Amino acid sequence: MEFSKEKKTILSGVQPSGNLTIGNYLGAIRNWVALQNDSFETHNFLYCVMDMHAITVRQVPAELRRRTLETVAIYMACGIDPEKSLLFVQSHVPAHAQLGWVLDCYTMFGELSRMTQFKDKSAKNAQNINAGLFTYPALMAADILLYQADLVPVGLDQKQHIEITRDIAERFNQIYGNTFVIPEPYMTKTGTKICSLQEPTKKMSKSDENPNACVLMFDKKDDIVRKFKRAVTDSDTCVRYAEGKDGINNLMSIYSCFTGKTYEEIEREFEGKGYGDFKLAVGEACADGLAPIQAEYARLMADKGYLEGMLRENADKASYIASKTLSKVYRKIGFLAK
Ligand code: TYM
Repeated sequence: MEFSKEKKTILSGVQPSGNLTIGNYLGAIRNWVALQNDSFETHNFLYCVMDMHAITVRQVPAELRRRTLETVAIYMACGIDPEKSLLFVQSHVPAHAQLGWVLDCYTMFGELSRMTQFKDKSAKNAQNINAGLFTYPALMAADILLYQADLVPVGLDQKQHIEITRDIAERFNQIYGNTFVIPEPYMTKTGTKICSLQEPTKKMSKSDENPNACVLMFDKKDDIVRKFKRAVTDSDTCVRYAEGKDGINNLMSIYSCFTGKTYEEIEREFEGKGYGDFKLAVGEACADGLAPIQAEYARLMADKGYLEGMLRENADKASYIASKTLSKVYRKIGFLAK
């Protein structure tokens, strides 16, 4: 993949902090693939595995290492093409930590205190409310701003982090003159917030303790169908998208993502049928949608050497791009040149 200064840049990433869910796929990775395939001529694509973010919550080292490589294989199995996109690992590019520190000094305590992800995660990890969890958004801003990304495809839960990134970038630009491109979040109409199958007002999350609440990208067909069968709905019987029908709305958005059907088409398809038929259809559409990804993933993981070699090369490529921004920043803030 050749990086061109003339093109716009799209960047995103996932934390390798657990098994990926269909929320990660439908809310993020699926859109990365569509963008890559549609805008290859006009954009640079960078897709990173955010392992430095993952350690804000305790990880088992061997698992983190394994999942980091697996996540790269997942990106590719979903359709990220290493000829078109630069795939790399965050910790392989020291500039993330370096710019992250600088941006810490341009990010306000009050702003960080308002981040909902910080509030949620610190409530869940009361034993380990570490400084990294708090300053996480400044590192995320560094991930994005280092590559002068124009567009960041993410799910709804990350929108607030893109907003703070914009604020940090604007603040820096105001003090030192134009330095960073101000990024925009990119979200599609459906799939930006896939909810838990058990508590459909809550986001589906890879850290959910209830295995029936989330569908993992590598669940087997039987498990997927069973989880959808058990999905919490309501006492109505009619499949329609409406306020207050959170469970059904969630299933409709999942079905829509996998089949490409609109909500009206789905309502027509299930007219006169019950929730049981609908849940089965959603489960099957989901399992069928994931099957080719699962097969491709198994093929890719059979050659770990190839993945590791690619990551080594890409670490240099990403470091080179990142170093341009970092040296500009260092110069502007007054660090003495080497
Ligand atoms: P993470 O690892 O929590 O999630 C990765 C991507 O998946 C999306 N997502 C969802 N979308 C819809 N419904 C859901 N239930 C759902 N769950 C997760 C997330 O919105 C995200 O797009 N902070 C980021 C990782 C990150 C990053 C970055 C992303 C670090 N640096 C720079 C973009 C750019 C995170 O924790 O994502």
